[in-house]
Amino acid sequence: MVKISPSILSSDYGKLALELKRMQDCGADMLHIDVMDGHFVPNLTLGAPIVKCIRKASSLPFDVHLMISDPYRYIPDFASAGADIITFHYESDSDVDATVDLIHSLGKKAGLAVKPKTDISVVYPYLDRLDMVLVMTVEPGFGGQSFMQDMMPKVADIRQRKPEIDIQVDGGINADTISVAAQAGANVFVSGNAIFSSPDAEATIRDFKAKAEG
Ligand code: DX5
Ligand code: ZN
Repeated sequence: MVKISPSILSSDYGKLALELKRMQDCGADMLHIDVMDGHFVPNLTLGAPIVKCIRKASSLPFDVHLMISDPYRYIPDFASAGADIITFHYESDSDVDATVDLIHSLGKKAGLAVKPKTDISVVYPYLDRLDMVLVMTVEPGFGGQSFMQDMMPKVADIRQRKPEIDIQVDGGINADTISVAAQAGANVFVSGNAIFSSPDAEATIRDFKAKAEG
């Protein structure tokens, strides 16, 4: 099932709650919340207290993407703040099995992300336990970068191994690249810049869905 997850990294943080409401009204399926610690990636965003505050602004699932060095330590905070899907990086310092167990023990869905330079085979041992695999299509850290089409074989590989798993792509998704990613087998599409810079976000999300489904 195709899902569009607008990344609030490109939103106006000064009116975050309103931006979340607006995305829900525009047809978003979930909301992608980028958490950066200034260590795992060279940028800082927000933490669990802010997630907790914006939780009441929307009934959509919160798709929390942790770009932090020690996700294990912060999973309980994000779970109780209202995250629904918690995705962490294979390249982080946390043990993958223990972190997936912790996320599941808190009743949340677990995603595992890989950076562009990481071989996709690292996720194979965990495929049966994961709810989602996130194939990064840019170097994590910033919005507005160009889509890396050479990541598509990773998507196709996972789709072939695990036909029913959610495969998310994140970075540079727009009206052109979404079709490429969908054809490779992705079904969950994060998009920041293309949606938030659109003069008509509702039409953009509708167009993205049609392209991803076509
Ligand atoms: C990048 C983040 C992305 C980012 C995508 O590190 O993980 O979620 O917001 O933004 P766009 O769609 O603008 O590339
Ligand atoms: Zn992200």
